[in-house]
Amino acid sequence: MMQNIVLVGFMGSGKTTIGARLAKHTDRYLIDTDIMIGLQNSQSVKNIFDNHGEEYFRQLERHFIKWAEKNIQNAIIATGGGMPAFNSIEKLGKIFYLKIDFESIKKRLTQNELSARPLFENPNKAYELYESRQNIYEKCANISINANQPIENILMEILKYTI
Ligand code: S3P
Repeated sequence: MMQNIVLVGFMGSGKTTIGARLAKHTDRYLIDTDIMIGLQNSQSVKNIFDNHGEEYFRQLERHFIKWAEKNIQNAIIATGGGMPAFNSIEKLGKIFYLKIDFESIKKRLTQNELSARPLFENPNKAYELYESRQNIYEKCANISINANQPIENILMEILKYTI
């Protein structure tokens, strides 16, 4: 059985972008947990937060993790930024932390991408959250990757560990 490659990190750290490139390169498919959860519930993550609250979204994430543990292998999994803060994800596969500076995140995210992220509405609060998440990502990851580099370098680093 081939282990999944799991990407964790803060909102805007490039999990989905890098996950897509990894998927193509390794001839696997990318599973984006926010998209899967949104589709299963016929609404965007933003609407789930607005209509049901964060706690409900975290339950949906937990539900996804249980399903993924049993049913997904040999895939790339891009997680929502809070997933490892609320639930254990160690059984999902080999975990890579995309570690990036807060300034780089702000540069990467467009206005559209910001408005799709309820926990990024207030930049000061987002920064506090960013700080409080660092340890969590470090602890849950098998490998930390410097994600302030060009995407090609990030890809090469991850690929080194995934043969
Ligand atoms: C969240 C990150 C988001 C999404 C939700 C909550 C978080 O995913 O799951 O808005 O708590 O950090 P991205 O990391 O893909 O933005």
